Amino acid sequence: MGDARLLEAARPVAAFDTPELRALVLDMRETMAALNGAGLAAPQIGVGLQVVIFGVAENPRYPDAEAVPDTVLLNPELQSIGDEMEDGWEGCLSLPGMRGKVSRHKHLRYRGYDLTGKPIDRTVSGFHARVVQHECDHLVGVLYPMRMTDMSQFGFTDVMFPNAATIDE
Ligand code: NI
Repeated sequence: MGDARLLEAARPVAAFDTPELRALVLDMRETMAALNGAGLAAPQIGVGLQVVIFGVAENPRYPDAEAVPDTVLLNPELQSIGDEMEDGWEGCLSLPGMRGKVSRHKHLRYRGYDLTGKPIDRTVSGFHARVVQHECDHLVGVLYPMRMTDMSQFGFTDVMFPNAATIDE
């Protein structure tokens, strides 16, 4: 956080399944895995393209985080379903070691393309919807603290959750 590239709008991907795109996604996957993340957006590694990846395996250490399929999502379009909002804790690999409580749409339809250009169209809820909203915010230059309304719910993970295993988006 503080790098101007995180505040810019990302460009759509113009060509699918290119060697450059595959290399970018591989780099993102390695970065996300090395940092134990739930998701990553290309601007977080300095690339201004509409590319996000996310995925969370079922893990008893993270009881609040239901499984989310491993996904590469290009040129996403988000559409909230209904008005219901839900508060939840978020972290971000661009703000290491911190957590904040963020209100997100509970139900979401998202569309886009996979690495090969095949359409993706999913309707999801809860944690899956939260992860997608968080990652796609990175494509319009928004970091989760910019969505927060109560800054008393923002702080260092090891202070706020001293005994918890945590994951970052
Ligand atoms: Ni993030």
